[in-house]
Amino acid sequence: MKQKNYLENKVYIVGAGCGDCELITLKGLKILKKADCVIYDYLVNKKLLRYAPKTAELINADDTRNSFSDSFTKEQDKLNILIVEKSKKYKTVVRLKNGDPVIFGRLNEEVEILVKNKIDFEIVPGITAVSSAAASLNIGLTKTKFAPVVSFITGHENPFGRKSSVNYVLLPKQGTLVFYMATENLKKITKKLIEVGWNKNMFCAIVEKAGFPDEKKLIGRLKDVKKIVVGINSPTVFIVGDVLKYAIKC
Ligand SMILES: C[S@@+](CC[C@H](N)C(=O)[O-])C[C@H]1O[C@@H](n2cnc3c(N)ncnc32)[C@H](O)[C@@H]1O
Repeated sequence: MKQKNYLENKVYIVGAGCGDCELITLKGLKILKKADCVIYDYLVNKKLLRYAPKTAELINADDTRNSFSDSFTKEQDKLNILIVEKSKKYKTVVRLKNGDPVIFGRLNEEVEILVKNKIDFEIVPGITAVSSAAASLNIGLTKTKFAPVVSFITGHENPFGRKSSVNYVLLPKQGTLVFYMATENLKKITKKLIEVGWNKNMFCAIVEKAGFPDEKKLIGRLKDVKKIVVGINSPTVFIVGDVLKYAIKC
């Protein structure tokens, strides 16, 4: 139920899906088609913007930052101000986020500001990057007997840095690891995993630009990562675990 004093206007935080523009949900697409304003992330497939009405104002969220980064909190503040401003002007604002807004999507920051400003909102989930990547690899991320757990981990932080909030020792070894935002730290992450006891022969995969026509997939062992990362560019997801043995067979 809508709370008292909320504006009539509404912000929809919509997951665009990953790569292929057909991976948006039907609900997300319906909302996009009636948007007065779309504020989109730079990783969103731009073909999706064709579905917004011709009259809609289209804003690249990353123009509010100098360049894309996962830790630009100051720029997130600017973005929050922009969202509030546009939601006061337009009836339907779509905040189009790549993948699923609930996974490493700075969702809490944006919801907090909407609540604070009494702006009505709704979250429409999407297909996260690793779902797209796993589908391209033809693997499931889970297997009841040897991969009953999947961990989604930020790879943005240097695992050897003092500020890292990821405790590598605690990552469940009986399961699949999925690192987001890890491209720059891939070598350090694998070194750290081996240091905390992961078998250096454990399967791993890097999927660059999952779901896009120029997607790249590399499968190897943890010990190979330092060789195979050459020429790999962001965005990537890094998957570690025995489930990757199924990818080898296909
Ligand atoms: C800020 S996070 C956003 C994640 C997004 N909310 C999701 O659910 O996929 C950005 C990271 O998502 C991953 N990512 C997004 N799009 C990708 C793609 N097409 N291929 C591989 N990884 C992608 C990368 O790890 C990238 O650094």
